[in-house]
Amino acid sequence: MSSEGILKFPPGFLWGTATSPTQVEGHIENEWTNFTAQDGGHCRIACDNYHRYPEDIAWMQQLGTNAYRFGIEWSRLQAAPFAPLNQNELARYVDLLDRLRAAGITPMVVLHHFSNPPWINAAGGWTNAATIPAFVDFVKQLVPALREKVFLWNTFNEPDTYACVAYLLGGFPPQRKWQLGKFRRVIDHMARAHVQASRIIRRDGVCAGRKPEVGIAKNCTFFHAYHRLSPWDRATAFACHYTFNKFVLDAFLGGGRRHASTFIGLNYYGRVRFRHFRAMIPASGAPVKTLKDFGFVCDDMVERYPAGLEKILPYLQRKFHLPVYITEHGSASANENFRERDLRQNLTALHHAIQSGVDVRGFFYWSLLDNFEWQFGYTKKFGLLAVDFAKAALPRTAKPLAGVYTRICRANALE
Ligand code: FCB
Repeated sequence: MSSEGILKFPPGFLWGTATSPTQVEGHIENEWTNFTAQDGGHCRIACDNYHRYPEDIAWMQQLGTNAYRFGIEWSRLQAAPFAPLNQNELARYVDLLDRLRAAGITPMVVLHHFSNPPWINAAGGWTNAATIPAFVDFVKQLVPALREKVFLWNTFNEPDTYACVAYLLGGFPPQRKWQLGKFRRVIDHMARAHVQASRIIRRDGVCAGRKPEVGIAKNCTFFHAYHRLSPWDRATAFACHYTFNKFVLDAFLGGGRRHASTFIGLNYYGRVRFRHFRAMIPASGAPVKTLKDFGFVCDDMVERYPAGLEKILPYLQRKFHLPVYITEHGSASANENFRERDLRQNLTALHHAIQSGVDVRGFFYWSLLDNFEWQFGYTKKFGLLAVDFAKAALPRTAKPLAGVYTRICRANALE
C-alpha cells in the first residue's frame, strides 16, 4: 500500500472532520450556557452552526471529506426525564443528516460530548445513578427515529476527560476539585449506560439489513516522567495512566463488556510529561519558552507524540480485538506549517499501524471549524476553517491546512 513515497490508505477509508454541539452550534441550554471561559468567551452563539449547518456541509464537500462526526445534543431533545423527543429539534437533525447523505458524507453520531440537559445537572449529573435510565430512554427514542440515516454511533466522547476535568481539575462544570470518588462514580455510571445504550443501538438500529456500529471515543494520552529516573514523576505518570487510561478502558471494555461495542474510537493528541510533579504542557500553563528550552514539541495544548499512535493502536487491537476509528486528531496553533507537519507525522504513524495489521477504518480531523474550546474559550485554533468571531456573520475561510487535508482525502493517500 505504499509506492514511491505515497502512503495509500485502505479502500473505503473514511476521511472526516469532527465537531461537538456545545462547541459549534450555539443557542444551547446546558451547563455551558452560563459558563465563562478563561478568555471571557461563552458558547451562546459559538459558530452558529445551529443555523449555518447547510453552509458547513458545503464546506465539508469542498474539503473532499466523506464522513462527519458530530453530536446530537440531548438537552435539545428532552425537556424532562422520559419526555417524548422534541419534534422540531429532531427535524433539524434529520435535515442535517439528509443533507449529509445528499453530499455523500457518512455521519457518525455522538450521544454525549461533555454536556447534559439542565434537569440532569440539577439532579447531580452522572454522579447520580438515575442518569443511566434517563440517558438510555433518550437513546431508545432516538435510535428508531434515525436508524435509516445513521449506522455509526458513538455513545460517549472521552468519559475520562469529562470526569477528570469536571471532578478532579475543576475546569468543566460543575468545577469540582479532587473528588476522586465522584470521578470513579461518573465513569462507572457512564460505562453502565454505554453497555445498555449499545444493546439498544445494535437491536433497534438495524436498517435494511445493515448492522449499526457502536463504540465510545477514548482519549488515550501517554503519561511519562521527564527524567526517567525520577521516582516521583514516574509515580505521578503511572497514577495518571492508571486512572485515566487503564481504569477507564477496563470500565467500558473490560471483561464481558467488550462485547457491547463493535469498535473503539480513539481520540489521539499526544503526550504529557511530568517534571517535579508539573505537567509540562501549554494546557496546564507551562510557559512556552520553558517548554522550548526543554525540547518539547507542543501545539497550544499538549506535547506532540506521533510515535505514540504506532504503540497505542496495536495495543488496542491486541487487547480488545475491535476495529478502530480515529475519532479525533488535530492540533491548535497559529503556525500552519507546524500543523501540516504534525498531521503528516501522525498520518504516517497511522499508516504504519495499518500496515502492521491494525484494522483502522477512518480518521476524523478535529476540527472542521475554529470553535469554543471549553474552559479555554476561543483562543485555541483547531479548525481547518477559520471563523471570524468579530463579525456578526461569522464568516468561514479555509486555512492552508484545509488544502493539505483536501488532497489527502481526495487521494485516499498521503504523499
Ligand atoms: C478533545 C475533545 C474535543 C476538543 C478536543 C481539542 O478532548 O473531545 O471536544 O476539546 O479535545
